[in-house]
Amino acid sequence: MSVNKFNISYVKSLDYWANIPPTIDGVLGGFGFLSDMDINGSQVFLDSLFSLENPPCKTLALDCGAGIGRITKHLLLPNFKSIDVVEPDEKFLNTIKEFSGEDSYKITNLYQVGLQEFKPDKKYDVIWNQWVLGYLTDEDLTTYLLRCRDALSENGVIVVKENVTSSGKMENDETDSSITRTLKHFLKIFKSANLKRIKQCKQTNFPNGIYPVYMFALKPN
Ligand SMILES: C[S@@+](CC[C@H](N)C(=O)[O-])C[C@H]1O[C@@H](n2cnc3c(N)ncnc32)[C@H](O)[C@@H]1O
Repeated sequence: MSVNKFNISYVKSLDYWANIPPTIDGVLGGFGFLSDMDINGSQVFLDSLFSLENPPCKTLALDCGAGIGRITKHLLLPNFKSIDVVEPDEKFLNTIKEFSGEDSYKITNLYQVGLQEFKPDKKYDVIWNQWVLGYLTDEDLTTYLLRCRDALSENGVIVVKENVTSSGKMENDETDSSITRTLKHFLKIFKSANLKRIKQCKQTNFPNGIYPVYMFALKPN
């Protein structure tokens, strides 16, 4: 089943985010209290990538669908020399530098564009995608991942951290025009984008009653 049957609308999702305040609770849809646990889980995952035999460098990372820069500030800035961010919402984008505090000078480029149109013109050591890929159609997600694949430096890694459904079926949310994919569907898309999974891990310590959250580390096949 393709997600296109759910009629993802880029206009509708942008419109939804335009009306959300630029706060942690805002970008996490009222689940701001999960942020610290989420970042801790991501740091453990990132450390496992840095411990690989051929680890990614710590020079340049990309935060995709960055919101107000929650991941940039708490995860990427402490681990990389420079960060670029992609975020289509102007209000969020204008918040990122101030929100990131004294290390914000390490943020080199802010791209105001949707991932379906984003064309990286640099090489990145880590490309971090979190809680954003549900806004893209299958087709756009596959071509976007192919562009990311071409934008990796030597030993570079794409990280995907997303909700997956536990019902075994894809689910859509009309409020923000997003879809939540199954684990199987993600794996199919990674394969279509010529990416292999080198690590996969489920976020622990999240409360019951929310979608399971998975982290994937992907490299060119
Ligand atoms: C749930 S928030 C997550 C923000 C951030 N990744 C985090 O975890 O804190 C989703 C973000 O995706 C952005 N977004 C929505 N559609 C997008 C698209 N087509 N391309 C890139 N970003 C998009 C929204 O503006 C919002 O900032």
